[in-house]
Amino acid sequence: MLRTMEDEKLWSEVDLYIHDRLLGADPALEAALAESDRAGLPQIAVSAPQGKMLHLLAKATVAARILEIGTLGGYSTIWLARALPEHGRLTSLEVDPRHAEVASANVAKAGLADRVEIRVGRAIDSLPTLRDELARSADTRAFDMVFIDADKPSTSAYFEHAVDMTRPGGLIVVDNSVRRGRIADPSDSDPNVVGMRNFHDLLAGRSDVQATTVQTVGSKGYDGFTLIYVGS
Ligand code: SAH
Ligand code: DHB
Ligand code: MG
Repeated sequence: MLRTMEDEKLWSEVDLYIHDRLLGADPALEAALAESDRAGLPQIAVSAPQGKMLHLLAKATVAARILEIGTLGGYSTIWLARALPEHGRLTSLEVDPRHAEVASANVAKAGLADRVEIRVGRAIDSLPTLRDELARSADTRAFDMVFIDADKPSTSAYFEHAVDMTRPGGLIVVDNSVRRGRIADPSDSDPNVVGMRNFHDLLAGRSDVQATTVQTVGSKGYDGFTLIYVGS
């Protein structure tokens, strides 16, 4: 199960190659990471190629409303919000007020303040409030795309809320669903791993969604994304 240092180094080099060929310089995103580092936030944002993948998925679903759970410094938020049309909106849920503050400044500097709303609080509390608001606006399934990337043990609970707020044909993306391959080990008792295993069990029992998990390597090591299409 162990990867060598050379493997990890190679994955990071390939990420740099991809960045160089397909992504290029991006002052707003680079500033968002620099400001996050300066504020002492953990370096766990999606990688640049992963961020662009989220951006392209949002474009492909023609997303006008996006929900994000887990803002951190707003790096994935910026990638996603950039895919929105002018009238589009992204709502991001974050428990740590300091993270939300850093993210809010980064989003503003990226010129996206008018499209992004960051809500501070535990996502498990913010989600029912959001659902009530949508119900009152008679648009209960308003979201075209959801990105779930917060505390991993709560992933199933977040998904259950998210799927009820996502339009048929919408897309839900979940980060960190492979955990260095530990997801396939039933004896692993790490709550993050158990959370992702429970989430896969939940998906396996639902016929109203179509899901797959794609393993990834790169500068963030070995992990994966789960993609869920809302519909059958
Ligand atoms: N999506 C970000 C990374 C998110 S890291 C990016 O790729 O750029 C996970 C974030 O989830 C952290 O900022 C953490 O504070 C937040 N978080 C953890 N538990 C949470 C909870 N219960 N409710 C809301 N946010 C939570
Ligand atoms: C880690 C990575 C993530 O993408 C995340 O959302 C949380 C934690 C990690 O590597 O610890
Ligand atoms: Mg993550």
